[in-house]
Amino acid sequence: MSEPLLQVRGLAKHFQGLRAVDDVSFDVGRGELVGLIGPNGAGKSTLFGCVAGAIPRTKGEVRFRGDSIAGLDPGRIARLGIARTYQNLRIFPDITVFDNVSAGAIGPLGISLLGTLFPPLGRRRDEAIAEATLAALERFDLLAYADEPAGNLAYGQKKHLEIARALALQPTLLLLDEPAAGLNDTETSELAARLQALRDAGLTILLVEHDMPMVMRICDRIVVLDSGRKIADGMPAAIRADADVRAAYLGGEP
Ligand SMILES: Nc1ncnc2c1ncn2[C@@H]1O[C@H](COP(=O)(O)OP(=O)(O)O)[C@@H](O)[C@H]1O
Ligand SMILES: [Mg+2]
Repeated sequence: MSEPLLQVRGLAKHFQGLRAVDDVSFDVGRGELVGLIGPNGAGKSTLFGCVAGAIPRTKGEVRFRGDSIAGLDPGRIARLGIARTYQNLRIFPDITVFDNVSAGAIGPLGISLLGTLFPPLGRRRDEAIAEATLAALERFDLLAYADEPAGNLAYGQKKHLEIARALALQPTLLLLDEPAAGLNDTETSELAARLQALRDAGLTILLVEHDMPMVMRICDRIVVLDSGRKIADGMPAAIRADADVRAAYLGGEP
């Protein structure tokens, strides 16, 4: 088997005395859609922050394509091909939908001294950004709203816009933090179909989500955290049947 795309090894993040992430190890294989679940406060968002470089880890190793990325700054990690969304919407309501999404692409493609010194290169870069932005908007049915202020979008569309912005980076690995939160059933099924389509197109996805039916249906594998520790890692059917997982999280659900 080829080397996993993402390898998390003994990862820990302590906030003063609190072990928000406590010695967690798991892999995400190329092209996999892996769910990361657990009760509120389990450490899911903190783990995302550590992988993306936004939160300095206390200890442990994170490898992407076999190379250590632990300790690199977030911009560098994004340029290596890891994009993320946040649990709480982070959009700019007063600028256009297009500009919100192209902001995702400008990070990796936009910082180019060469482009400034040699305008033709700069133009090529601008074209690449526009192309990535339009493709991401199209994938999430936002093309018709490209020129509108993002603040005008409905809540469900704002959640899609966040994913589109992450996609504009043309990542290899996408980290999604509760993309279905606040969506109705129809919007959630649409989202699930889009995530499956992205996975089928070759994107690797690590998905934090509380919507258990969706997670169980679309994920290839599921990692379960509880109080910062990994308590299970397996196929959806095995996770559903796992007594520890049921006790920690799934509780009364069928
Ligand atoms: N910046 C921080 N300072 C102190 N404690 C934090 C901070 N961020 C998160 N925590 C704590 O770490 C634990 C894990 O939080 P979080 O990663 O947000 O969990 P989840 O995303 O699984 O709900 C929680 O107990 C939370 O209160
Ligand atoms: Mg969270």
